[in-house]
Amino acid sequence: MCGIVGYVGDKQSAPILVSGLKKLEYRGYDSAGVAVINRNVLNVVRATGKLKNLESRVQTDLPQGTVGIGHTRWATHGRPSDENAHPHTYGGVAVVHNGIIENHLALKEELRSKGHVFSSETDSEVFAHLISDELKSGLDLPAAVRAAITHVKGTYALAVVTESDPNRIVCTKESSPMVLGLGQGQNFVASDVPALLEHTRDFIYMEEGDLAILTAGGVEIFNRSNQKVNRVTRRIDWTPMMAEKGGHKHFMHKEIHEQPRAVADTLRGRMMLSEGDVHFEGWTMSPEKVKALTKITILACGTSWHSGIAGKAMIESLARIPVEVELASEFRYRDPIVESTHLAIAISQSGETADTLAAFKEAKARGASSLALCNVIGSAMTREAEVTVLTNAGPEIGVASTKAFTTQLVGLYLLAVKLGRMRGTLSVKAAQEHLTSLTEIPKMIEDVLKCEPAVKRVARDFMNAQDFLFLGRGPMHPVALEGALKLKEISYIHAEGYAGGEMKHGPIALIDEKMPVVVIAPKQPHVAYEKIIGNIEEVRARGGKVIAVIDEDDTHAATLADHVIRIPAATALLAPVVATIPLQLLAYHVAEMRGNDVDQPRNLAKSVTVE
Ligand code: F6R
Repeated sequence: MCGIVGYVGDKQSAPILVSGLKKLEYRGYDSAGVAVINRNVLNVVRATGKLKNLESRVQTDLPQGTVGIGHTRWATHGRPSDENAHPHTYGGVAVVHNGIIENHLALKEELRSKGHVFSSETDSEVFAHLISDELKSGLDLPAAVRAAITHVKGTYALAVVTESDPNRIVCTKESSPMVLGLGQGQNFVASDVPALLEHTRDFIYMEEGDLAILTAGGVEIFNRSNQKVNRVTRRIDWTPMMAEKGGHKHFMHKEIHEQPRAVADTLRGRMMLSEGDVHFEGWTMSPEKVKALTKITILACGTSWHSGIAGKAMIESLARIPVEVELASEFRYRDPIVESTHLAIAISQSGETADTLAAFKEAKARGASSLALCNVIGSAMTREAEVTVLTNAGPEIGVASTKAFTTQLVGLYLLAVKLGRMRGTLSVKAAQEHLTSLTEIPKMIEDVLKCEPAVKRVARDFMNAQDFLFLGRGPMHPVALEGALKLKEISYIHAEGYAGGEMKHGPIALIDEKMPVVVIAPKQPHVAYEKIIGNIEEVRARGGKVIAVIDEDDTHAATLADHVIRIPAATALLAPVVATIPLQLLAYHVAEMRGNDVDQPRNLAKSVTVE
């Protein structure tokens, strides 16, 4: 995830900026840069890769100046490169930006028609151009920033400096975090508190639409209506470690709670509600090619494989193409049947998993078209794919995948709608209904996170269990698999995920009074609900303990279960997103109560780049 640091004071700013960026390294990045102002001249230093590359360039170039801004970039638009690294400059303006500009293509076109030349592939560079035009029209820097953002649709935390006004930083935010750090004769801005903790403990959290002007002597804040406001100064006593985790005890917990934002970012700029369609940047597959597809093969491992199983139901139902979901490690060692009318979809958080990459290459070599659903732009799979759909979850640091999974589900849903529209299997009206339900999902995730106290009580009761069973039917089958995987990988408790219909074919023999059974039983789709109620009865009849994940208004299942976790009711295709979250929380709290290393579970690596 991108990081921002800005400094204005009486010290040389470059070393302060670099050291602030180092404190944000844990968030993940692929390139970095700083811009400092000396006697009305901007000095910009940028470098791809680790911060030590930037640091050594700064040591060579020695950019002088007591006002500056810095950035670590996690690529979303444009591959990682020196040119795409921030700060971006134009006409004496330098900007650093976190967030996504949804209408950047249209804005770039408009600016090009006025003679602007862009030097990066990023959406962020647009800000430098817009602000420079506003300055030329006679506005001062704060007014120019205010005017520029009126053209922009999307999210931003933005810090700006300019040669014509070299003693201040102007910053503003909309939906991306930004904090101001207050000092004596020096002031700071950052995307995150840890960047500034070595300089100050006094912070102001900027509010939506705020614009702040920072000078060495003080900070002024104006609200969305351009009225001067006083925001509360908070004293932050977090240790640097606590600050990195945003006050959460573990990255995994932070990432579980980031899911409303991560999912919203995955949807952002892609849903064309009035047309009933989906826009993916860089989509190159023609309607003829999509119509001619006879099969989709999803290739993935672990959690990403589970999202593939959910994706199969989405794509088959909306786009009417047969979908096979293959464990990448098995596919690559078979002699699979692949034809030129097949599409291989690699699903991967990291984009580097060795088995998925090898299977993807194999499918391509045998003639399939290729699409990567991936969280890391520039990763091996995105380089291999003809089309990439990014999940925009931001870097996932906890080894156990959480926000990557839910953003994959949402990405697959968007893809199913797009394919359905292109193939003519989904009407505009039906697509609009699907997209409308997707707009509600970030809020639903916020609501489902409120079940955490109930989940914690269940975790306390069962933290010493030796085995767990997770049951789900239809769209809840992959959720059951994912719930079991999460629990086993971080709590080290043996857990199995099963399709409810398979119970009688074996696992029912395991049920006794010591066996907790998590039954995922939302009311949609109804046919799966009715059957899973039957599974609850079977478990009860054998003395098993039923933990039921059910809709808020379900009074029937509640009377049958020993423990109940309530979730907001969702449509059948979205229910997996909502229902997974209590299971992530259950795994987290059980592992935490057992004293395990939640973020770095034993024997596991975040990215499995060997077979
Ligand atoms: C489970 C987990 C792993 C990964 C798997 C694939 O929590 O994180 O099962 O899902 O190793 O990784 P990616 O998605 O990076 O290909």
